[in-house]
Amino acid sequence: MKTLKDLSVTNKRVLVRCDFNVPIDEKGNILEDFKIRQTLPTIKYLIEQKAKIILMSHLGQPDGKVSEELKLDKVAEKLAELLNVFIEKEDDCIGPDVEVESNKLEPGKILMLENLRFYKEETEDNLEFAKKLSYLGDIYVNDAFGVSHRKNASVSAIAQYLPSCAGMLLEKEIENLNKIMKNPEKPMVAIIGGTKVDTKAQFINSMCKVADFVIISGLIVKEVAEKNIKFDCPEKILAPVGDLAALDISEESAKMFSEKIMQAKTILWNGPFGKFEDEKYEKGTLEIAKAIIASKAYSVIGGGETVEFLNRKGMMDDFGWVSTGGGAMLDYLSGLPMPGIEALGK
Ligand code: 3PG
Repeated sequence: MKTLKDLSVTNKRVLVRCDFNVPIDEKGNILEDFKIRQTLPTIKYLIEQKAKIILMSHLGQPDGKVSEELKLDKVAEKLAELLNVFIEKEDDCIGPDVEVESNKLEPGKILMLENLRFYKEETEDNLEFAKKLSYLGDIYVNDAFGVSHRKNASVSAIAQYLPSCAGMLLEKEIENLNKIMKNPEKPMVAIIGGTKVDTKAQFINSMCKVADFVIISGLIVKEVAEKNIKFDCPEKILAPVGDLAALDISEESAKMFSEKIMQAKTILWNGPFGKFEDEKYEKGTLEIAKAIIASKAYSVIGGGETVEFLNRKGMMDDFGWVSTGGGAMLDYLSGLPMPGIEALGK
């Protein structure tokens, strides 16, 4: 897989797929900008190299229709503020007008395209749509790890039409997640919270192969029992004691989990252990976070809700790596296809 430093980008139009799918309120205001900040190294590098930078992303699920609150203007404003530069924002992501603007762009300057998912062709991995996007750049960079598990036009099909490479964030995500899968320092503990066992069963089984203990939430245990799901390593699974559907784990469970976590040298964590949005029920999740930090283990954290919680608590810098991927991190660690990475070649 080629990376940004393998290609000469100076004076070239560099089309960068980012994952700016950030949490927003009903008016479209950005609630948390972690994913935007994580793309800064790639963008700063491109500015330094005097590339002509064209950024593209999706936001939410507009299902092929234009939606006012899902426009990327506020993302462009936030990025401009973080970089302290001017960003030109387009009202579309394909078409003659945008092509003209991309051709007029000066070295070191940034153009932001409109939400890719205003076209249903994006999620259909449509070749014509990908080709139209490709007219905007000379080089394609995928820096959107969070959406690289999707076979979408701007992630997958587009790489057929332009010389392509991974951005710095994508590279770092892969590097850190590989540390978990390939010879992690032992003991390793995987902590898998939240709900929806259907989306997590394969992930839990994948963790069974590398981890010494797999801690799972009460809601997952409950679903497992209801659906008669069997994991590959029942002997490694640790579940909360007491009411499995409780809004927070018991003190006893938190203590049991913390003891295991404190012994670990490698930790992977995805998903909360209670209804953390309500401060009354955040104790279990907070105890887990604190135990991970106290363990001094190499830790990798992911999942939208987990990141939201850690951000609220001001703990984002206390871990080895915080992934921008939710579903993408689960799929990658489960060994499932990653079209956005495969499209970049070996
Ligand atoms: C995410 O937020 O996990 C990514 O941006 C992918 O979004 P999606 O699940 O809507 O494809």
